[in-house]
Amino acid sequence: MASENLITMNIKSLLRENIRNLVPYRSARDDYNEGLLLDANENSLGAPIRNQLDLHRYPSPTQDALRKKIASWRGVDFENIFLGVGSDEPIDLIIRMFCEPGDDSILTTPPTYGMYKVAANINNVKVKEVLLTPNFHLQVDEILKASDSKTKILFLCSPNNPTANNLKKTDLLKLISKFPGIVVLDEAYIDFSGQESMADLVQQYPNLVVLQTFSKSFGLAGIRLGIAISNPEIIEVMLKVKAPYNINKLTADMALKAFDQMPVMELNIEKIIDERDYIAEQLSYADAVEKVYPSDANFLLFKIKNAKEVYQKLAEKGVIIRYRGNEPHCEDCLRVTIGMPDENIRFLKTLKEILS
Ligand SMILES: Cc1ncc(COP(=O)(O)O)c(C=O)c1O
Repeated sequence: MASENLITMNIKSLLRENIRNLVPYRSARDDYNEGLLLDANENSLGAPIRNQLDLHRYPSPTQDALRKKIASWRGVDFENIFLGVGSDEPIDLIIRMFCEPGDDSILTTPPTYGMYKVAANINNVKVKEVLLTPNFHLQVDEILKASDSKTKILFLCSPNNPTANNLKKTDLLKLISKFPGIVVLDEAYIDFSGQESMADLVQQYPNLVVLQTFSKSFGLAGIRLGIAISNPEIIEVMLKVKAPYNINKLTADMALKAFDQMPVMELNIEKIIDERDYIAEQLSYADAVEKVYPSDANFLLFKIKNAKEVYQKLAEKGVIIRYRGNEPHCEDCLRVTIGMPDENIRFLKTLKEILS
């Protein structure tokens, strides 16, 4: 149940004044999109490269067909869906919509995905941080204590990067219902998780924005397609603030085609999870590995003696993973993405060589 302050929460009042008053750009196709189209200064002779997608025409500014497809897949309404250039675009947009540069702040919970802080820094928005506990869970009361009327957005990530674990659902619900601003829940890795998406809660909590992406479970990082799921009021403002034609035709076409291949995507998720569990087990046999953290994502975080040196030696042998030892509570930690089975064997074999 949403708490009383949220039932009465007025999302509009949280927006920056210039955004509240924004008169959006009207694109050429807002009024007419059929007939003899000589309205948008396109090149009517077409692209020099033959294509089936009418690439000489601008794409749909709202990508309704794709939004409908994604909405029915996630069990929400079409009006709940915003599409961005990766998740990075909605992260930046939401900060720009709600945070007054030089005045407002966001709150993040390190160790977590670095882009929330970078996007805030780019926008001259302050960043408050309340660390996760040493076993990577939320300090709910500390977060609420650290928030004030200028803390406009709380960024949460579950499963979290780089720690790989799900945040507790009870903690998430408490924060969504008690935090006095917008709660962004980044579910980039949700399809690898045993925990269900909280996307359908956007019907209940007007301040919740759930982020998802085509970069992970769909295996389409190259098309740059991110999803924000929220109440229609927030989505409408996002549509006004974004660049008019942010999602290009090639991206939309690929994403629609991916929906015709869902069994393949689901099978790939299962394979990745099996490989993840295999690598976790193999890592745990190594004496130098002090801990393999539980993972609900497509990567593993593990603690190993002399992590920096191990990371560098792996790189010298052409195996590139990520050193995360500079993150709070992650001393001597490395993060490895689950690869193809032969790649995983190569990683494990190279690691064994280095440790012997
Ligand atoms: C938690 C999290 N969110 C978002 C992203 C980026 O997603 P996208 O490729 O959609 O920008 C990443 C990428 O690693 C991530 O770890």
